[in-house]
Amino acid sequence: MVVVQLVQWLMSTGRLFYSGVGVALLVLLLVYVLFQKTKNAETPSEKDETNTDVDMCEEEVDNDVMDVEHIPFVHNRISEAEMKAKSKDFFTLMNKRRSVRFFSEENVQPEIIEELIRTAGTSPSGAHKQPWTFVVVKDKTYKMKIREIVEKEEEINYSRRMGTQWVEDLRPIKTTWAKPYLETAPYLILVFKQTYGIGPNGERLVHYYHEISCSIACGFLLAAIHYSGLVTVTHTPLNAGQALKELLGRPVNEKLLLLLPVGYPAKDATVPDFQRKPLEQIMIWK
Ligand SMILES: Cc1cc2nc3c(=O)[nH]c(=O)nc-3n(C[C@H](O)[C@H](O)[C@H](O)COP(=O)(O)O)c2cc1C
Repeated sequence: MVVVQLVQWLMSTGRLFYSGVGVALLVLLLVYVLFQKTKNAETPSEKDETNTDVDMCEEEVDNDVMDVEHIPFVHNRISEAEMKAKSKDFFTLMNKRRSVRFFSEENVQPEIIEELIRTAGTSPSGAHKQPWTFVVVKDKTYKMKIREIVEKEEEINYSRRMGTQWVEDLRPIKTTWAKPYLETAPYLILVFKQTYGIGPNGERLVHYYHEISCSIACGFLLAAIHYSGLVTVTHTPLNAGQALKELLGRPVNEKLLLLLPVGYPAKDATVPDFQRKPLEQIMIWK
């Protein structure tokens, strides 16, 4: 009844035409907004792009591939006895590696850090694209800001975002949202994977398997850190990647993979008494 009266009033005053146009415009606006939303979901924005784990870029690109000369491979053959000893020694060394979360403030020479990154850079990578950037932070203000960003997100992760199972799984490690090592460790190495390359004319270049390539490089880096007598913890700053990327001014094609504090362990550092799976449980002969 009220509607009929309203329509009659609108018609009498000639407002129906204008309100009809208004409604039509509103509908058009809604359709446009919905269309834009769907479009954005299909083609990720710069922000979304950094959060995708898609390894391969399907877009048409022009990777300018150059011919490379092939040279003889240099191989220094050693005796089997030496091989056995070396492989055993390397296991013994690597078996002592632990994730350490308590750091000394003692400084480490920057040249050592450079060698460690050089080693990470020797890693294999999909089509030799070397899709990694290692940002080494030693500046106290940056470290403070990084800690702020990470702890803010970790507090949410631990209190409500990640759920009870996650918190329960982490219980033996005794980690909390607090990450003082982000300020005590003399260096923080933030490993960024380049989800695609950017050519000289701004064109996108495919970075095949960037995730696994960077992960292997991180493995090299962890081994190098340990071999050099320093310690680290493989920290994955959940939900803080974008803010850290912005803080460090990294470009749109990069996404944070890992954060590695590097330094000497604190004198009273402890680690959980974990046992590693024996060979029989991790290896199968066929
Ligand atoms: C992919 C990955 C992510 C990890 N993320 C974290 C992390 O965010 N914080 C942390 O304290 N440890 C983290 N760790 C370290 C593990 O907790 C640790 O490797 C595991 O407990 C075994 O201990 P170990 O490294 O001393 O052998 C991570 C390890 C890996 C491989």
